[in-house]
Amino acid sequence: MSFRIQPAPVARLNRCQLFGPGSRPQIFEKMAASEADVINLDLEDSVAPDDKDTARKNVIEAIGDIDWGQKTLSVRINGLDTPYWYRDVVDLMEQAGERIDLIMIPKVGCAGDLYAVDALVTAIERAKGRSKPLGFEVIAESAAGISHVEEIAAASPRMQAMSLGAADFAASMGMATTGIGGTQENYYMHREGQKYWSDPWHWAQAAIVAACRTHGVLPVDGPFGDFSDDEGFRAQALRSATLGMVGKWAIHPKQVALANEVFTPTEQAVTEAREILAAMEEAKARGEGATVYKGRLVDIASIKQAEVIVRQAEMIGL
Ligand code: COA
Ligand code: MG
Repeated sequence: MSFRIQPAPVARLNRCQLFGPGSRPQIFEKMAASEADVINLDLEDSVAPDDKDTARKNVIEAIGDIDWGQKTLSVRINGLDTPYWYRDVVDLMEQAGERIDLIMIPKVGCAGDLYAVDALVTAIERAKGRSKPLGFEVIAESAAGISHVEEIAAASPRMQAMSLGAADFAASMGMATTGIGGTQENYYMHREGQKYWSDPWHWAQAAIVAACRTHGVLPVDGPFGDFSDDEGFRAQALRSATLGMVGKWAIHPKQVALANEVFTPTEQAVTEAREILAAMEEAKARGEGATVYKGRLVDIASIKQAEVIVRQAEMIGL
């Protein structure tokens, strides 16, 4: 990236983010016991308007009472277009203690949205003498959010992650679908009597990855609604991983293992990456910038590609 070094994102695992409605406290312990790296307690769209206050109280209590282990603990607040969000931020920060790691801000449309939340969060941190700075993650899930994706990624030093929210994104774009992610029946190329399905989410995903990587933010794939379709989930997650995303949401516990499987590099991939690094070390010792590994070219760019895999493996402890 020009003469500047591309900033590294926060060094933590984000293979799976498990969501649960704040209005359903019975599942909080199960969420804490899951294999997800990140827990998202939801105050937004899985909570009915009449339940907003109760959900907020449930979540505040649970943050302190439940042992969340090493997990990253995040609360999805309500959008800035609602009357709820300021109370979410104020009550969480004044009452929930310091275990909370992140808030997730949905439906962001421009950098100014994050500036506003950052101002409020910063004031409360100072007033209350909080020692642990709160991180932000956001959902890009509107036409405006995708149009302004780069300024959003750069909007606050608190920014850690950005997810694509397929359902709201589709609605905002006027896309002809009610599906949440995955293959869309009517999005295909046609040739000689055959249909070839294409990926309507590809452009938004690639835009998010580029903006995030430019500014040291983790790019994440959002929800896959049909939790009875494991193969569909796996295909969507594999495409996201191939494009550079680091993880995916689970909206049902059975999706956690699927996401972990896709976003954990295989033993073979890790071995190959280490062998490529070794091959390049030997090439360097011979004064060469390129060499042959298993019949294909590897060069200095291959070192960076292999290092992505090795770093991930080390964080997981493989
Ligand atoms: N986290 C942890 N455990 C969960 C869970 C979740 N999100 N959702 C369900 N479970 C538990 C259930 O309590 C049940 O446990 P049990 O076997 O001990 O009884 C088990 O997993 C199986 O649940 P199941 O009956 O298949 O699902 P459900 O009908 O209870 O709930 C959903 C289905 C989709 C409503 C629920 O999973 C859910 O609310 N998901 C999150 C929605 C959300 O947060 N959306 C916002 C982001 S898009
Ligand atoms: Mg949404």
